[in-house]
Amino acid sequence: MNLTIIGSGYVGLVTGACLADIGNDVFCLDVDARKIELLNQGVVPIHEPGLQEIIERNRRARRLTFSTDVEAAVAHGDVQFIAVGTPPDEDGSADLQYVLAAARNIGRHMKGFKVVVDKSTVPVGTAALVHDAIASELRKRGESHMFSVVSNPEFLKEGAAVEDFARPDRIVLGCNDDVPGERAREVMKRLYAPFNRNHERTLYMDVHSAEFTKYAANAMLATRISFMNELANLADRVGADIEAVRRGVGSDPRIGYDFLYAGCGYGGSCFPKDVKALMRTAEDFGEPLQILRAVESVNEAQKQVLAQKIVTRFGSDLAGRTFGVWGLAFKPNTDDMREAPSRTLIAELLARGASVKAYDPVATDEAKRVLALDLARAPEQQTRLSFVHDAMEAASGADAVVVATEWKVFKAPDFDALKSHLKMPIVFDGRNLYDPHALQELGIEYHAVGRASATQASRARAEVAATQALA
Ligand SMILES: NC(=O)c1ccc[n+]([C@@H]2O[C@H](COP(=O)([O-])OP(=O)(O)OC[C@H]3O[C@@H](n4cnc5c(N)ncnc54)[C@H](O)[C@@H]3O)[C@@H](O)[C@H]2O)c1
Repeated sequence: MNLTIIGSGYVGLVTGACLADIGNDVFCLDVDARKIELLNQGVVPIHEPGLQEIIERNRRARRLTFSTDVEAAVAHGDVQFIAVGTPPDEDGSADLQYVLAAARNIGRHMKGFKVVVDKSTVPVGTAALVHDAIASELRKRGESHMFSVVSNPEFLKEGAAVEDFARPDRIVLGCNDDVPGERAREVMKRLYAPFNRNHERTLYMDVHSAEFTKYAANAMLATRISFMNELANLADRVGADIEAVRRGVGSDPRIGYDFLYAGCGYGGSCFPKDVKALMRTAEDFGEPLQILRAVESVNEAQKQVLAQKIVTRFGSDLAGRTFGVWGLAFKPNTDDMREAPSRTLIAELLARGASVKAYDPVATDEAKRVLALDLARAPEQQTRLSFVHDAMEAASGADAVVVATEWKVFKAPDFDALKSHLKMPIVFDGRNLYDPHALQELGIEYHAVGRASATQASRARAEVAATQALA
């Protein structure tokens, strides 16, 4: 099938590459000429495991084209995927300007039947706006062509996007009941048939429900995280270990283990903006979502949890102190720095006078770019931020190491080496990666999220052991 992907970012590139990989002829469009130039040189501008190989393989097989040519893009695809960004507007609603610009381009150039797929995350009612934008351009041209707008939200996770796209849990497809809608449904059914061979994964529904499903899923996941984070903060107070609690509640099949990890808050390109957008929709319809309001404010506070623990330990004035930060991306296996908790942490440490040595396995370039913007009004603070090439270098001479992202490479570091590099053997762990007892036995002071009891119990045991040894 001939397909066009409008927007070659995290979602567009993965969608285009994976659909080319099963034999489709895919044309990827972007307005960013630099991005297209890089892709045409074989350079993939984002970090996503496995993506480079698939793009290379399909470019060589001439099933994958990258271009800024709008007219050629519209001419190419029987199916036009809109996969452009939907960032938050000032009032929190999803900014649809890129989606509607893409729609107008389709209307300006289409010459026959098109299936237009909203793959971007868009509020309920957007398919109708996309339809109107296309229809209005057709009217201006005095032409009439059949088309249908379907909602096919994307559920891939950055860091595992290729795997998620190739083996989806579900494919949500919202189509209209009219004649163009029925035709579009058949086209999409054929397109996704290879993904449904093992069992039917496509969930057919009306357009509004499909649009809503994406927001509902992200809101539900964000809620689990914020709820666990709130419980973790309470666990710290009452003397419980949130990791033990997580296992205790996760073993209930009605709850399950996934998405129950406490930490230093969620970030990324989706949860923060989708929570905001859903709240905005709810308010517009006079049905405010009170739980989501709490989810958002808990998350904002949680992004400060590491800085607070550092202040409790070292005092509010951090001048003269140095912290090694391990992990900058909002989660492992991506270079995406959008809304990453590390940004809040670093800004707070620098504002309190500390120096920061930051390390991330892949996100350093992107981190340099976004932190320069974050700190644009504080040039003096920027001079106290440096980026290093490995984890031990970040720890070297530091007062403590702070883990902000759970990259695999941080999961079992050489703690003896870490101790010898640090000025003080102290670890602040925003992702609860380590065993408090093991670190205590190694003589490392350990601060995690919701694990004060485990740390204290271990400290008490060590003190008893030391007293017994003396006696
Ligand atoms: N990133 C994720 O993990 C993820 C997962 C599921 C859904 N989504 C949703 O998918 C959408 C895209 O997200 P993303 O992370 O890929 O964004 P992105 O910012 O990485 O990519 C968007 C791309 O669209 C391009 N673009 C903008 N306007 C254009 C136009 N008129 N024509 C052609 N190209 C245009 C931009 O230059 C950019 O390269 C968003 O709505 C997002 O919420 C993202």
